[in-house]
Amino acid sequence: MGDGESAALTLTLRTGGAEQTWRLGCVVGRQARPGDVYLLSGPLGAGKTCFTQGLARGLGVEGYVRSPTFVLMTRHQGRLTLHHIDLYRIGGAAEAWDLGLDEQLFGGGVCVIEWAERAEELLPEEALWLEFSYGESGDVREIVLDTESARYGGLLEELAALSFAGVESLDAGAQ
Ligand SMILES: Nc1ncnc2c1ncn2[C@@H]1O[C@H](COP(=O)(O)OP(=O)(O)O)[C@@H](O)[C@H]1O
Ligand SMILES: [Mg+2]
Repeated sequence: MGDGESAALTLTLRTGGAEQTWRLGCVVGRQARPGDVYLLSGPLGAGKTCFTQGLARGLGVEGYVRSPTFVLMTRHQGRLTLHHIDLYRIGGAAEAWDLGLDEQLFGGGVCVIEWAERAEELLPEEALWLEFSYGESGDVREIVLDTESARYGGLLEELAALSFAGVESLDAGAQ
């Protein structure tokens, strides 16, 4: 399938510690393409920023990527421009729009949005959702990747094979 075709794809992964979540992000960052949009949801401490830090490194960003919770968005230069946005403190979708979100989304870089569910109606369908949640014990996190876009099909296939790298793949495939 080519880009732009419609497809519903879901993959559930489980990581056993922060390093694995970081590594997962790194794999995503290494193969990210201009215009990619990664929408992260899930509670505080579930690993969204940890994943983004790995993604930044995979994109070749040097230095430490902090959570932009207090500044709402930051930009980092790697192989591509990374826009890191955190909507935790956003009042609503209208406020998110006022931030200039459309420029970040459609500017040709790579966009990662934490708390994306807070502005869901503004966000493009051609995106990859990653829903983070706490697993059954301390350092376990479950990450459900979900997309309507075939654009991310190759990535999901690659991630499904990550079980060899310590990340556990629970379920993969088209629905
Ligand atoms: N499997 C895991 N994946 C990611 N973070 C983990 C994991 N296990 C423990 N942690 C810890 O949970 C916290 C995640 O924080 P953070 O990435 O800032 O979450 P969020 O951005 O979702 O609020 C960190 O302190 C990290 O060390
Ligand atoms: Mg965060």
